[in-house]
This record gives sequence, structure tokens and C-alpha cells, in this order.
Amino acid sequence: MLKLRNALQHRLLEARARALPLPDAVDFPLAPATKPEFGDFQANGAMGLAKVLGRPPRQIAQAVVDHLHVDDICHPPQVAGPGFINFTIRPEVLAAEVQERLDQPRLGVPMAQPRQRVVVDFSSPNIAKEMHVGHLRSTIIGDCIARLLSFRGHRVLRLNHLGDWGTQFGMLIAHLKHVAPRSLSGEEHVDLGDLVAFYRQAKGRFDEDEDFQERSRREVVKLQAGEPESLRAWGLLCRQSRQAFQTIYDRLDVQLVERGESFYNQALPGVVEDLEQARLLVVDDGARCVFLEGMRGKDGQPLPLIVQKRDGGYNYATTDLAAIRQRLASPEAGGEGADRVVYVTDAGQFSHFAAVFQVAQRAGWVPTGCRLQHVPFGLVQGADGKKLKTRSGATVRLRDLLDEAVERARRDLVERMAQEQRQAEEDFIGQVAETVGIAAVKYADLSQNRTTNYQFSFDRMLSLQGNTAPYLLYAYVRIQGIARQGGSLGAEEKPVALCLQAPQELSLARQLLNFDEVILEVEQDLLPNRLCAYLFGLSQTFNRFYDQLPVLKAPDQSRATRLALCRLSAQTIGLGLALLGIRTLDRM
Ligand code: ARG
Repeated sequence: MLKLRNALQHRLLEARARALPLPDAVDFPLAPATKPEFGDFQANGAMGLAKVLGRPPRQIAQAVVDHLHVDDICHPPQVAGPGFINFTIRPEVLAAEVQERLDQPRLGVPMAQPRQRVVVDFSSPNIAKEMHVGHLRSTIIGDCIARLLSFRGHRVLRLNHLGDWGTQFGMLIAHLKHVAPRSLSGEEHVDLGDLVAFYRQAKGRFDEDEDFQERSRREVVKLQAGEPESLRAWGLLCRQSRQAFQTIYDRLDVQLVERGESFYNQALPGVVEDLEQARLLVVDDGARCVFLEGMRGKDGQPLPLIVQKRDGGYNYATTDLAAIRQRLASPEAGGEGADRVVYVTDAGQFSHFAAVFQVAQRAGWVPTGCRLQHVPFGLVQGADGKKLKTRSGATVRLRDLLDEAVERARRDLVERMAQEQRQAEEDFIGQVAETVGIAAVKYADLSQNRTTNYQFSFDRMLSLQGNTAPYLLYAYVRIQGIARQGGSLGAEEKPVALCLQAPQELSLARQLLNFDEVILEVEQDLLPNRLCAYLFGLSQTFNRFYDQLPVLKAPDQSRATRLALCRLSAQTIGLGLALLGIRTLDRM
């Protein structure tokens, strides 16, 4: 209801100006009503002005109301309680809004002004290491944020800051030379299969065999020096991991541009130089670092951010500094020209980002108006409240986790079909199970406030009851079913003036019209769970409406109005789910 709210707000300010002798800058804000019985909107400004004006707030509210002209939008505004002004939109205005929004692809959501260039840094697993549930969370939340920001009209660059550089490669290459030497020369194509197992073997040897340790160190040096043979081996390892990650991304329908840590290698010495120039660098115990302002360790001493180790090597923080510098630099200077950079990682990296953001700021790399933002999330826990593990205690592989979700979705579906005595082709079952299984995993994650830990439960996420993907998908399917039973939901139904009368129609219309406000809120605080809560509430309201009122058998005008509400409900749920990265189904 952005449009109506803006119109009302405007008139309210005009009335305030006429009614009260105050400077123009004094606000008189309008907010959504806190309870449905108060109407649609509420203005609480009178209370705050009582002291300034030395008049009772109810009197102030009444004076504003006396100067207010809003008859074309709402019923006469009511002064209530200590001095609230309550506004209730007229049904015919709501109906006109519904009508206008029908079939409109943006469903009332305006394009952002100005459009920003936004980098969303998400997923970002590490080569040869396990892509774990934390990376899954980052992938799902980051993808949703990227979708939402693009939908608002921002130009979004989705970056995968892959951990593709570091000392682990020395060990991996040394091991590879031993177990598959011909692969390194390119003579032989090796499939390393499970690279994680390979990493485990290499690590095992490293911990036991001193000679191997030495060889590994030498490999790191050679790789850093850019020796062709080492680079080839490194490339092989990256390719291998990349394939495994890509399978997961395809399955999740997530697009990412790979720009791993290695991308910044050339820039690292320059970062340290820049910091030196900015007089931020201090040598502490041989390491070059920046002391952080306002961040102290347990001993009360200022914390250093190390940017170059004693042995000359760089670290995670140096790479992130190089990345910030490049992302914020103008395109002419070889940068991304980003106005905003969003990092989606677990909350455990809070201090890391606070530190690198501060150093970037002090180094002068952050142009005014640009924003660096860490978007943290909590841990994924098992039913026992501890970190999610398999029954044998191993870390859960993402592939297995998705497979299990899909397998369980399939079992539920087959069981339900047997109960309902429905027959279906294997193709249909397979497709529904895949969609529902993946949707359930994504939605379970997105529907939690990301800042808290969340308990992973297949049973809960796949349930047809409650705030789950199956519940929403089912509401959508129900509406598609109306079309199949002959209730045209398409534009071909001849346009009639909609007329909202029944309370179920009115509350559904109101909820549908709130979509635009919810999207703007989610854009503000990057909390996808708000969109989920909205879609859940909407689906519940729709279900109540549909259970309590006839649609196809309703008399003419009611029928057209109700079909229009069904159509807009499907469009809103469909678009909402698409922004969450969830596909809809026409049947399930
Ligand atoms: N690879 C890191 C990890 O697995 C995440 C990287 C996040 N992005 C960044 N620019 N630091 O924890």
C-alpha cells in the first residue's frame, strides 16, 4: 500500500501545517496500524507535540483531523486513545488498487532510485575442503538477497570468494605428485573423485611424515613463485572442486561469478604499500599489522590486524582488503565501482569483517556514500542443539543432505497419493519431489531470523502444516486448481469493477496490497524471514478465504471479485517465492 500510504502521509503533513503553528520540518509520521481493529494506518505525532505546543494531545489530533481532506481515500479518520489518529481505507479504493495490481509484473514494488551497484559476496567455500552447511546457509541467504536487490532494480554482482589459495595447496600438490604424477604433466586425466578424502590423506601424511612436511613447504613456495608445473597442479585441484560445487549450485538454481582469493594475489603487495603510505602500518614481532581502533583483546591491549606475516606471506585479511579496494574502486581504475558490498557469512566472522572494514575506511578506500556490510547468520544445529552431524559423527555432506530432503519429499508424496487414490507418472513424482525437497531446505533456512542459530529438521521443513515451503506451495497449487476447475484466472475473464464486501475478501485484499511494503523492509534490513512470514500469513488468509467463501459457485460479481483475488494471491505468492529462490508447481 505504498502509494496510498504516501498519498495519506502527504495530506497529513499539509493538514498539520494548516492546523498547527510549527516549522515545516516537524514530522507527523504515518505508520501501519498496530492492530487490524485500528484500521490500516495510524498517526501518533500528536503525543510528541503535546509538550511543545502545551496542548492536550487529543486536541492536537482533532485539530489535524479537522484540516484533513482524505475522503476520497478513507473513511473519516478517528481520534482514539491518548491522541492517535486512525485511518481506514475505503473498500472501493482497496478494490481499485487490487485491480491495478493484477497482472502487473512488479506487483506495486517501485524500482529503486537511485539504482546502486551492489556486490553480494556469498557461498564462498574452500577448495578441497568440505562445503558444509554453513556454506549452504550463505548460498541460500546470499542468493535470496541478490535476487531481491536485483528485483528492486539494483545492478548486482554475485561473487563467489572461493578459498582457492593458501598453504593447504602445498600439501595437496606434494601428495598428488606421489599418487598421480602423470596427471600433473597433463598426460593423464585424473578424476580425484572425492577431493575431500584426498585432502584428508594429504593432511594425514603431513602430520606424520617430516619429509613430506618439508616437501609440502617447498611446493607452497613454488606455487607462490608461479612455477608453471605448480600452477598446473593447482589448476587441476581447483577444477575438481569447482565441478563438485557447480553440481550443488545447479541443483539449488544459484548463479555465481567465481572470483576466488587467488584473483587478488597480484594486488597484495600493493595493499601493504597503500597501508604503509597511509601511515597505518606497524611492525610487531616481525609481522606487519594495523592496530585497530576501539577493538581490544582480552588483555585490554589494542588488537592488531596482521596483513603480512613474519615469513612474508599474506593472509585471509590481506586478501579481503585487496578485494574491498578493488570492489570499491571505479571501473576506470579497474574496479567494480560498487556502492554497496554485502558479505554473507557466519556470525563467527564478525570481528574479521569489523577489522577489515575499519582498516579499509582508515586507508581511504571507502568513498563517501559507499557501504560495506556484513550480513551474519547463526549456526545450523542438529535436533540435539549441537552442530549438525551425521549419525556416525561425521560432517554432513551437502549432496547427501539435499538427496535426503528430496527422498523424504518423494516418500511423503507417494504416501499422500495412495491415500487420495491418485495415480501419477514417475516423471511427475520425480519433479515434484525434487522441487519440494529443495524448496523445503531453502525455506527452512530463510524463514528463520538469520542472526539466530537454527535447528535443522527434515520432519519440520517437509511438513504440510506450519510456516514451511510445502504449505506455501500447496496454497499456490490450490489456486491453480481453481483454474483447472473452470474458474478462469487469466486476463481473458472480462474486466468488471471489483467489489470487496465480505470480511474475508477485505482482509485478503489488504494483505495482498502489503507486498510492496514488505519488499522494501526486507531490502532495508536484509532479513528474508520477514518475506517468509508475510507469505505464510498471506497463504493462511487465502486458505481461510477459500475455505469460507464460495468462489466458482458465487454469484456473478462476487465470483469475478473472488477470482481476481485468487489470481493476485497466486501472483503474489509466486513472485514472493521466486525472490526466495523457490520454484512453484502447478500440481503436487
Ligand atoms: N571462504 C570463507 C569461509 O569458508 C568465506 C569467505 C567469505 N567472503 C569473504 N570475502 N571473506 O569461511
